[in-house]
Amino acid sequence: TCRYAKALQLTLAVIKPDAMAHPLILEALHQKILENHFIIIKSKDLVWRREDSQRFYAEHAGRFFYQRLVEFMSSGPMRAYILARENAISQWRELMGPTKVFRARYTAPTSIRGVYGLTDTRNTTHGSDSAQSASREIAFFFPEFNMKEWTEKEEPLVR
Ligand code: TYD
Ligand code: MG
Repeated sequence: TCRYAKALQLTLAVIKPDAMAHPLILEALHQKILENHFIIIKSKDLVWRREDSQRFYAEHAGRFFYQRLVEFMSSGPMRAYILARENAISQWRELMGPTKVFRARYTAPTSIRGVYGLTDTRNTTHGSDSAQSASREIAFFFPEFNMKEWTEKEEPLVR
C-alpha cells in the first residue's frame, strides 16, 4: 500500500504494565496493531517515575482512582507507539473498547480491554481521545519527535 503522510492521523497508543508483563499478550497486541493497518511511526519501551504518571494524568487528579492509577502506571515497563492511519484516534479507541472492564466484557467482548482487561485500572492499553490529546501525549512520550514537520509531509509513505 502507498499512503500519503498528510492524509493520515497520528495517535499515541500505550501498552500498560499489566499487558507488558505477559509476552504473549504483548505479541497479540502488536499483531492487532499491524492487522488493523496502523503504521508504526515510532515505538519505545520505558518505565515511568511516579512524577511522570502524576503529570500525564493530571486531568484526573482528585478522582477516586487517581492514586491507584498513578501507582500502577509507574509500576513497571510500558511500550508506547506513535501510530498513523486514517482516523487513527477513533479506530484505536474502538479496538481498545470501553475503559471499565465490566462494560468492556459485556458490550465489547472481543475488544482489547474486553479480552485482556483485568480491572478498571489495569486495563491493558491507553489511546489518545482527541487530536489535541494526541499532540500533547505524543510530545510527552516522544519529546524528540517533530509532529508539525511530520503532519506537513507531502511524500508518500510506503509500507
Ligand atoms: P479515562 O481517561 O477516563 O479512560 P481511557 O483510558 O479510556 O481514556 O481514565 C484514564 C485511566 O484511569 C483509565 O484508563 C484507567 C483509570 N481509571 C480507573 O482506574 N478507574 C476508573 O473508574 C476510570 C474511569 C479510569
Ligand atoms: Mg483518557
